[in-house]
Amino acid sequence: MTRYRFYTATSLDGFLADEHDSLDWLLSQPTGEESILPYDAFVAEVGAIITGRTTYDWVLEHDGTVDGAWVYTQPTFLFTHRPPEPAREGVTAVSGDPAAHRAAIEEAADGKDVWIVGGGDLAAECARAGMLDEVFVSIAPVTLGAGRPLMGGQLDLELLAHGTNGALLEARYRVLGARG
Ligand SMILES: NC(=O)c1ccc[n+]([C@@H]2O[C@H](COP(=O)([O-])OP(=O)(O)OC[C@H]3O[C@@H](n4cnc5c(N)ncnc54)[C@H](OP(=O)(O)O)[C@@H]3O)[C@@H](O)[C@H]2O)c1
Repeated sequence: MTRYRFYTATSLDGFLADEHDSLDWLLSQPTGEESILPYDAFVAEVGAIITGRTTYDWVLEHDGTVDGAWVYTQPTFLFTHRPPEPAREGVTAVSGDPAAHRAAIEEAADGKDVWIVGGGDLAAECARAGMLDEVFVSIAPVTLGAGRPLMGGQLDLELLAHGTNGALLEARYRVLGARG
């Protein structure tokens, strides 16, 4: 059964990126060999990707292409009100409630998982649509004070595992549902 998984990194005070969409604070952290959920193992379970427009643009601007193609090989659903030019093979522009695209996303995932790459608003939209099963965060030892929030909304989660990877604290959660 397809799982919807938000696999991401955050500052200690809960931001995905700073106010200028910079990830310097994250990319400068030393990482190690150990992880409770290594990226390669996680990605091997991913059959489709969901991303918001800001994250998509950031990835494209930061080596997010291989010979001009979108860097991820999995079918990608880009949530945006502005279909990008040029269109890229494997990237489908969609908008509105994620639930309206659920059947297409799961057909594309073909029995594997869906990676919600980000950002936080889109992850919250997915949660509201019942399309968020797991949250995995790598927590960097830095506070930013302001920026792009990890996730909006109110959820209850269950801690499944925790560990470290270099300077990063890792935590894996199962989403129990909306609070209250
Ligand atoms: N720390 C990490 O590991 C990590 C992971 C992911 C992302 N990031 C960074 O965090 C930041 C993410 O910022 P964010 O959370 O503000 O942005 P985001 O979710 O990536 O993008 C938000 C934009 O996506 C579009 N969108 C979202 N939901 C939509 C919907 N239902 N229908 C149509 N369009 C929709 C809208 O763009 P339009 O209306 O303009 O089309 C919206 O302004 C970026 O800088 C990214 O690089 C960091």
